[in-house]
Amino acid sequence: MSYEATFRVWRGDADGGELTDFQVEVNDGEVVLDVVHRIQATQAPDLAVRWNCKAGKCGSCSAEINGRPRLMCMTRMSTLPAGETVTITPMRTFPVLRDLVTNVGFNYQKAREIPAFIPPQGVKPGEYRMQQEDVNRSQEFRKCIECFLCQDTCHVVRDHEENKPAFAGPRFLMRIAELDMHPLDAAADSGLDRKKTAQEEHGLGYCNITKCCTEVCPEGIKITDNALIPLKERAVDRKYDPLVWLGNKIGLR
Ligand code: SF4
Ligand code: F3S
Ligand code: FES
Repeated sequence: MSYEATFRVWRGDADGGELTDFQVEVNDGEVVLDVVHRIQATQAPDLAVRWNCKAGKCGSCSAEINGRPRLMCMTRMSTLPAGETVTITPMRTFPVLRDLVTNVGFNYQKAREIPAFIPPQGVKPGEYRMQQEDVNRSQEFRKCIECFLCQDTCHVVRDHEENKPAFAGPRFLMRIAELDMHPLDAAADSGLDRKKTAQEEHGLGYCNITKCCTEVCPEGIKITDNALIPLKERAVDRKYDPLVWLGNKIGLR
């Protein structure tokens, strides 16, 4: 079965733009990206849209559908209110390049600012041993497809350009949490305190655990409960640890 839908798509570039309406055919079983491709094929060949896998795995097709950050390839038309206009806009937190395509370079910059896993001394790859619980934690965080929908939705940077230099965003605070809780990461041995950098360089304190990031994650990663809150607890414990406090006082650390 097929029907006609109205799609309202934002078109423009860094200098500005506007919403443009399209009447377009929708077939049973289609996702929003199918319909955007049909608009491109039949009415607006120059409509810019980024996509790759059409399977929810490459993280390219992020946009805002009726104001909600989502993957276009994983949003079934049948889940949207029947008969209502479908509005598609680019992710608001990042600068528009053209139409639905944004420049997500902010995220790559933040990724570069986080030092990688530091291998333990004297243990060769292949000899690493970890508790299953620690493996599971890393695996959950590594399901991230880097769609940046969590970064887009977080109110700390959404509409607050001025916070961007100081705040890494949920995806990258989660990366710090992963490394800080990794039993084999040898950061501390090389003088790197990941908890301290999370607080002082990556803006952990800006996060007030609203959990909006978790709500939009297409991989269902419990970003707030499993990464951000534990990282905050660890950072606070460290601050109030009497030995750390004493060490700071007498200049040992
Ligand atoms: Fe996307 Fe989830 Fe990764 Fe954030 S944590 S970038 S929402 S997959
Ligand atoms: Fe932002 Fe997620 Fe914290 S939405 S405020 S990073 S819980
Ligand atoms: Fe790859 Fe949507 S096209 S996640």
